[in-house]
Amino acid sequence: LKSLKEAYQNYFPIGNIMEVRDLEDDYNTAEMFKHHFNVMTPENAMKPDQISKAKDQYDFTAADKLVDWALNNGIALHAHTLVWHSQSAAWLNTGEAANRATASENMKNYIETVAGHYKGRATTWDVVNEAFANAGEGFDGSDWRTALRKDSPWYIAYANNNTKSSKTLTEDPSDYIYDAYVLARKTDPNAILYYNDYNEEIPAKRDAIALMVMALNQRWLTDDNYDGRLLIEGIGMQSHYWGDSFDAFLVDEALATFVATGAKVSISEVDMPVGAWNNQHNGKKLTKEEETQQAVNYAKLFALYKKYAKFIGRVTIWGKGDDQSWRASGMPLLFDNSFTAKEAYYAVLEPE
Ligand code: XIL
Repeated sequence: LKSLKEAYQNYFPIGNIMEVRDLEDDYNTAEMFKHHFNVMTPENAMKPDQISKAKDQYDFTAADKLVDWALNNGIALHAHTLVWHSQSAAWLNTGEAANRATASENMKNYIETVAGHYKGRATTWDVVNEAFANAGEGFDGSDWRTALRKDSPWYIAYANNNTKSSKTLTEDPSDYIYDAYVLARKTDPNAILYYNDYNEEIPAKRDAIALMVMALNQRWLTDDNYDGRLLIEGIGMQSHYWGDSFDAFLVDEALATFVATGAKVSISEVDMPVGAWNNQHNGKKLTKEEETQQAVNYAKLFALYKKYAKFIGRVTIWGKGDDQSWRASGMPLLFDNSFTAKEAYYAVLEPE
């Protein structure tokens, strides 16, 4: 079967995810990965809840297995993720740590330790993941901070500024985002730092993300640590679409909006279940019509990625065979359970 990474060698790297079990199974997941993909995102192993169960405890065993395997096989590491409301570590910013002084100190400890551990090995980092509300709810059309996820423990901790009585601009709870990027840049100056989110094609959320990237890059210009580069050099579009709601026009608009910020854009987690988001296909085979519709959607996406190829850092598909997907019930990937290529694979190979 033609290798996807070879098919796209003149456009952009093609990525996929790995878990430690993928290195140990007996149906050749690792071989299949090597054939098609040249950049790897650890699906879960590098998330804070996996790496650090408690303060001053770090366990890199699982993540290192994946990283060593990748780098030994000429596969680049996209590291995922440092600061997130989900799959985080409670000690960072909850309970006793739910205040600005402690949470920011813990963030420093975490980023210096983890980004420091992968320094020189991570090509790119998702520094902050999913800081905005689901569909950009609350966005007032001009201030990106109005669209933030106010229930993130990072936001809540930074809002609890119990060391000072008056609020100034520099005490804004959204500062947790800027702090994370500055820490990551100082720790691993060669890594390209990404902001990553989903529903990124929805106009309110799209515009809030773009405004944030521009605002933080502008704030960086007068930072003592300024190094002549953008601070946020990449925007990750997760691209968890689903058949019933997929709108290629919005994807095109989002690509254009993000490219115009001056950042690279990467497609970081693309998948495309048939039907609804949580479609329960119950392991039934897709009908011919469903498989074709899914392939048509993938073709539209990859035609757009080719159109913007100059600005695209990588395109990563969130899973290999359908049954390994986090949304397995919608059979969202290019290969079926036994890695037989679906119509979607051929559509990606030749989208136009
Ligand atoms: C998902 C994994 O695929 C699942 O195995 C896990 O149970 C939950 O997280 N956005 C992200 C990814 O940035 O880290 C998520 O990955 C999917 C949504």
